[in-house]
Amino acid sequence: MVYKSLVSISDYGREDYLDILDKAESFEQNPNRRLLEGKVVATLFFEPSTRTRLSFETAVNRLGGRVIGFADASCSSVTKGECLKDTIRIVGNYADLIIMRHPLEGAARYASEISTVPIINAGDGANQHPSQTLLDLYSIRKTQGRLDHLNIMMIGDLKYGRTVHSLLMAMSHFNPTFQFVAPDALRLPKEYVRFLSEKGIPFQEYTDYMPYIEQADIIYMTRVQKERFLDPIEYERNKNAYVLTNEALQHTKDTVKVLHPLPRINEIPLDVDDNPKAYYFTQARNGLYVRQAIIAKVLQLL
Ligand code: CP
Repeated sequence: MVYKSLVSISDYGREDYLDILDKAESFEQNPNRRLLEGKVVATLFFEPSTRTRLSFETAVNRLGGRVIGFADASCSSVTKGECLKDTIRIVGNYADLIIMRHPLEGAARYASEISTVPIINAGDGANQHPSQTLLDLYSIRKTQGRLDHLNIMMIGDLKYGRTVHSLLMAMSHFNPTFQFVAPDALRLPKEYVRFLSEKGIPFQEYTDYMPYIEQADIIYMTRVQKERFLDPIEYERNKNAYVLTNEALQHTKDTVKVLHPLPRINEIPLDVDDNPKAYYFTQARNGLYVRQAIIAKVLQLL
């Protein structure tokens, strides 16, 4: 049987997304199903993670599988100079599926080309984070009742934010309107601007969200990604670019929801957590069900 890795969100299309969201709904009803009995899943995290790694590992456990792997590459033979190719070939001897996060853009694609078992990309540099995108889609559909014809405002680090890049590609299947809010240094990269233009998807770019926030159905906040900056002074200049306050949320639709892939730093103050428009903690919980659905899809268990 040929399994298909999930490396980029564009590896799947609209029907695949909807299939995964429907499966995730059934896992939310009943997360404990022993579909992975007898299977081993490797989680290889060459970059730090809380949500992605632990929700994937919880997903495997709740599906009755076993987890091997590392949360820190310094515990692996990478420190002795082993290359990614050898690591993937070796782990493929032990596991039925590899879930990998890596700082290099393209690392997951490379791994999928040499691996004998499917790869799920858990984030590669500033490039893609497809499992986050699927849980974002799940959260959007759950809160808005639909995915089509929504106004999505994305605020913050649109240059390095891989979740932004994956999400705009996925939402392009659902007739969105985008409002991108970023400082000049962190604007959406040209390839994504071109992608949207070629698809005829309406979007605006701003440096201030306040005049336009009332139009948003979803506000997607992002952290300024310190670890991706080559110049620390540039990070210092941009790190406090946007803070979304309760006062600002008074000017939004009653139905708006605030999403954030997390971790947050200071872009959402703690007192916003009690605002009914804040959805980011439930969004993170949805990640468990969606990652169960992704594993089931990749391994063709359902
Ligand atoms: N959203 C996300 O990828 O969080 P972690 O870095 O904690 O996995």
